[in-house]
Amino acid sequence: MSGSEHPKRRLRSQDWFDNPDHLDMTALYLERFMNYGTTPEELRSGKPIIGIAQSGSDINPCNRHHLDLAKRVRDGIRDAGGIPIEFPSHPLFENCKRPTAALDRNLAYLGLVELLYGYPFDGVVLTTGCDKTTPSALMAASTVDIPAIVLSGGPMLDGWHDGELVGSGTVIWRSRRKYAAGEITKEEFLERALDSAPSVGHCNTMGTASTMNAMAEALGMSLTGCAAIPGAYRERGQMAYRTGRRAVELVLQDIKPSDILTREAFLNAIRVNSAIGGSTNAQPHLMAMAKHAGVELHPEDWQVHGFDIPLLANVQPAGAYLGERFHRAGGVPAIMWELLQAGKLNGSCPTVTGLSMAENLAGKEAIDREVIKPYGEPMRERAGFLVLKGNLFDFAIMKTSVISEGFRLRYLNQPGREGIFEGRAIVFDGSEDYHKRINDPSLAIDEDCILVIRGAGPLGWPGSAEVVNMQPPDHLIQRGILSLPTIGDGRQSGTADSPSILNASPESAAGGGLAWIRNGDTIRIDLNQGRCDMLVSDEEIVRRKAEGIPAVPADATPWQMLYRQTVTQLADGATIKGAEGFRQISKRPPRH
Ligand code: FES
Ligand code: MG
Repeated sequence: MSGSEHPKRRLRSQDWFDNPDHLDMTALYLERFMNYGTTPEELRSGKPIIGIAQSGSDINPCNRHHLDLAKRVRDGIRDAGGIPIEFPSHPLFENCKRPTAALDRNLAYLGLVELLYGYPFDGVVLTTGCDKTTPSALMAASTVDIPAIVLSGGPMLDGWHDGELVGSGTVIWRSRRKYAAGEITKEEFLERALDSAPSVGHCNTMGTASTMNAMAEALGMSLTGCAAIPGAYRERGQMAYRTGRRAVELVLQDIKPSDILTREAFLNAIRVNSAIGGSTNAQPHLMAMAKHAGVELHPEDWQVHGFDIPLLANVQPAGAYLGERFHRAGGVPAIMWELLQAGKLNGSCPTVTGLSMAENLAGKEAIDREVIKPYGEPMRERAGFLVLKGNLFDFAIMKTSVISEGFRLRYLNQPGREGIFEGRAIVFDGSEDYHKRINDPSLAIDEDCILVIRGAGPLGWPGSAEVVNMQPPDHLIQRGILSLPTIGDGRQSGTADSPSILNASPESAAGGGLAWIRNGDTIRIDLNQGRCDMLVSDEEIVRRKAEGIPAVPADATPWQMLYRQTVTQLADGATIKGAEGFRQISKRPPRH
């Protein structure tokens, strides 16, 4: 269908702007849009009204160039016969929002649901970029279920410092170790970090932002190739234009998120996440999106469908390169092309292009094999998330694509005990406690220790913090031991290169097993059995329970109070309890 044809059916927006039964209300709805020059003829023409959910602003620098890209989106919408109406969505800036932007993902979701439901939109362009801007937008799009399409802002250009690639976030973790080892000064630490951000765009590593935009593309919710185009490339503006055009066509063709977001689409996304070495934050976010889409996704799906997939993308933190080169190598379509040829992708999934995923991927083979490996010659075999359980938690994941050779040899390849490690627990209550005590000699931390952090989950932090990738004490780093096994009920940054055991659910603050571990306990990690246990008797655990759950900070804001009252655990996506019951609400128009 061409963009110029008008749809046969009555559009949702006409209930506001062209409603003979409620002429007085129509007058009210229409009049104020006149005050910036819109005409009643436009709004009453029956042309699709397309929202542009603007996630960019001065306090979300990762998405800020969407303020410019929106002009090209508007052009596309107009050229396809639609009418653009741009509006702000709740900003989510990962690096700056305290105590964590994770607290705000559900708030942004709630806000967007109210806007998409309560205003006269027939379709929406979801502008995404920084980590949680993608899942919050797709969660809301599913709840309301009007035609929706994702426009990623794209990553920053590759960062360079002294002839070395420096990638967002990853440079921080690596520089911290260099600083602890005495290899760089504080000033150089700062310069390396600043050089990792050379242009507009989101993190240029395969952190949570690039991962979640790849997930949107893998789910079929963006145009082919949208995720990886750098924010500063001319192709990004062109993608914005095409996305605007396509949004109008989606309305005319009545293609909604519920037509695209199937279980098969989510399983495709899980496989793509393994192949790109994607962020561990994809686990709660995909789970949350699936819940709001009414799709049954199980925590074990990460192991069953994702673990055996090899790592194909040579991109930091699991590999060497950054987002700009990844895009030039073929980006997400080239990764998906490999999976499709290997029979590891469901090519029949419908997408926002109107074509199947397999049709979208025709001819998308990688053009730079240094960066995107063939399925048969990967960076690493079986590179997905391991799913673990035991008496410390019912669910946690471990990102295997970032296990270094040194870590593997020291902890996982002990002769006769491959995949099994026992260590002495060093337990921290929150990150302040960690920073205060990690270099305390009385803890006597050595390479046989396992660092544990609790109070970092959705209830405990609150919001769940990226703090599980704890650095060893300085004296170990100076001896070349750059990472210890770590376990926690929080998350870790998608840019971190630590093989932590994280997202532990239920968390300590909810009375999970981590609440009952004590300093000096032995922890046994058995990756073959998928288990992680404290070697403490049941009787002793019962005794410790009488001591109560370790304290967490009080609510500091009204939203923190509401968030804690409503949030689920990370295994379940840290969604709002009961919100998944509100699906496809656009079928029931709001009262006038
Ligand atoms: Fe916003 Fe990484 S901090 S994308
Ligand atoms: Mg993050």
